Amino acid sequence: MGFPEGFRWGVATAAYQVEGAVHEDGRGPSTWDVFAHTPGRVRDGHTGDVACDHYHRWPEDVALMKELGVNSYRFSLAWPRVQPSGSGAANPRGLDFYDRLVDALLAAGIEPAVTLYHWDLPQPLEDAGGWMNRDTAYRFAEYAYRAADRLADRVGMWITLNEPVVVTAYGYAFGVYAPGRTLMLDALPTAHHQLLGHGLAVTALRGGGARRVGLTNHYSPAWPADPESAADRDAALAFDAFMNRMFTDPVLTGAYPDLTALGGPDLAPYVHDLDMSVIASPIDFLGVNYYQPTRLQAPPAGGPLPFDMVDITEYPVTGMGWPIVPDAFLSLLRTLRARYSNGLPPLYVTENGCSFPDEVAPDGTVDDTARIEFLDAHIAAMRTAIDDGIDIRGYYAWSLLDNFEWAEGYHPRFGLVHVDYETQKRTPKRSYAWYRDLITVPPK
Ligand code: FCB
Repeated sequence: MGFPEGFRWGVATAAYQVEGAVHEDGRGPSTWDVFAHTPGRVRDGHTGDVACDHYHRWPEDVALMKELGVNSYRFSLAWPRVQPSGSGAANPRGLDFYDRLVDALLAAGIEPAVTLYHWDLPQPLEDAGGWMNRDTAYRFAEYAYRAADRLADRVGMWITLNEPVVVTAYGYAFGVYAPGRTLMLDALPTAHHQLLGHGLAVTALRGGGARRVGLTNHYSPAWPADPESAADRDAALAFDAFMNRMFTDPVLTGAYPDLTALGGPDLAPYVHDLDMSVIASPIDFLGVNYYQPTRLQAPPAGGPLPFDMVDITEYPVTGMGWPIVPDAFLSLLRTLRARYSNGLPPLYVTENGCSFPDEVAPDGTVDDTARIEFLDAHIAAMRTAIDDGIDIRGYYAWSLLDNFEWAEGYHPRFGLVHVDYETQKRTPKRSYAWYRDLITVPPK
């Protein structure tokens, strides 16, 4: 069996990771600008000020995608370009940029898939409490409407939030990503407010003319360190509720999973009447980002969390040190179907990929065989899931370009295309040609 008719083969990026041009055309500051410019936050003091200069080089990047043969491109809008202060009238010059990009993609035969929020919150909203403040959900819906009003006639697919669990965990609980707050489990209201923002944005997007609307979550199969140990199994269940269910159950079933084992604050006071039905507004697809499984053991007594992460050492790892386990990807896809059965909308794999320390050889090539093997094995796992009858309609490799990898700066290289940050020269890697051949002649 080949891939389903109309399958989307794409690549993905996010605004702060590729655009640069942080002061141009009226863009306001985001939490990531402030975070990256705070000494000690990002490795070697790297920032997204220039990144891949995609804001200026987008015609070249669209040409690279056309040559690659993708039929969809997932990118995010920078909220602070659209609404520099996070509320009120749209900044037309910010929207003009995305307007041009969308038109160029369509002219190249590539469907634009837009993420509204890939972590770059307008700083003025953060100053007012960020996602700890319920009002941010309403601001998000207003932004969603303005974006759709301008672009929905041409954008085929809308993703409200990217990986809200990472915002809650890394951004507000542990402080390793913007905005760098260390609230630990007191960060849980940011989960509810993001979910509310998602639900309100679904309605706002549809009101603005958007056709296909969904959200993208990060999933990581939870492995108990010792499957015979009840305490390790409980740790894995608590992690699973936090990582894999907290942002999916409410959307697909209208209820939170049991979070009592997490030990955080009671969410009830934050959940107003009707919130859960807003959050459970029907969506057209679920975006799935997968990179690696996580192994958990019982935490030390008195630890702040109900689980403790343990390194997975029996598999090869990527440049990030992430274990390469394509079987875990397959089991995740099967778990989603088993868990939500008829309530599961069509899936799109909105991110999957790996970093390696790729270098341009003297002959000008970039031999990233390890990336080819990674993608090949993960696409094969997805293919098995499709053969199982799981409705998967697209796959987006992370990423088109090497880019700003958050707290790791420019060190990890995730691209199918190598970027020399001194010259901004793009060099397609071997994986680029491999992916092109795979998607232009789909396997039988
Ligand atoms: C995901 C993010 C994406 C990228 C990859 C490596 O969690 O959504 O922006 O950084 O990890």
